[in-house]
Amino acid sequence: MSRVALVTGGTRGIGAAIAKALKDKGYKVAANYAGNDEAAQRFNAETGIPVFKWDVSSFEACGEGIKAVEAALGPVDVLVNNAGITRDAMLHRMKPEQWMAVINTNLGSLFNMCRHVIEGMRERKFGRIVNISSINGQKGQMGQTNYSAAKAGEIGFTKALAQEAARAGVTVNAICPGYINTEMVQAVPKDVLEKSILPLIPIGRLGEPEEIARCVVFLAADDAGLITGATLSANGGQYFH
Ligand code: CAA
Repeated sequence: MSRVALVTGGTRGIGAAIAKALKDKGYKVAANYAGNDEAAQRFNAETGIPVFKWDVSSFEACGEGIKAVEAALGPVDVLVNNAGITRDAMLHRMKPEQWMAVINTNLGSLFNMCRHVIEGMRERKFGRIVNISSINGQKGQMGQTNYSAAKAGEIGFTKALAQEAARAGVTVNAICPGYINTEMVQAVPKDVLEKSILPLIPIGRLGEPEEIARCVVFLAADDAGLITGATLSANGGQYFH
């Protein structure tokens, strides 16, 4: 019996690599996305992984979306909360909308998604929840008070839910990627990336999405039941937490 995995933000960037890696390991995978229909259709055509469109910052939309996934594939055994956005600005220029968008999408989504799957996981006595946080939630990052706060919040959420769910066979872990070669990082101003970020990465390069996907596969496995409440850093040595 193959397990069902749902990856939010699963049609591009790190999420797409996670969805593909889980499929390669035999999971029945669903990929959620919010807006980019063209990228989602391309991803679906390339991988055969079904795609489901909804906004993870909406509690109701998550409920409806998860219902649709479960009707198509069966109950969700593995939830990967990967969807995330940036709205970088120094705090003295940040608008309330930039703050709220990042908090609601990156952190609010953990409540919105987990709340709809946790009861089923508890009843079935099995679940794997993997939250994709960030190095910038661990160390803070100039220009990212919103993003760093949300990503740090994800780590707290992970540790609390891990305690609640442990006895029900549900593990909850966070992964903190460093700077990974995706559209999100490519959007950082080129001179900032080259002068202020790359020199701080001891391995001398950005990470690749597939390297984060390997971490998810490890934590999602049936035999990873000992590992819960953990924060797995994958950042090329940039920051030791
Ligand atoms: N590290 C160190 N210095 C930085 C920096 C960074 N990440 N970002 C900006 N700076 C420096 C700039 O080099 C500049 O220095 P100088 O005055 O000496 O030239 C100074 O801060 C001000 O920067 P800007 O002139 O660019 O000011 P701005 O107000 O126009 O923009 C900013 C500020 C929004 C922070 C912009 O520089 C920016 O977007 N920086 C990148 C922020 C960042 O690292 N975001 C991470 C995105 S990737 C991600 O989030 C994925 C993940 O999980 C890791």
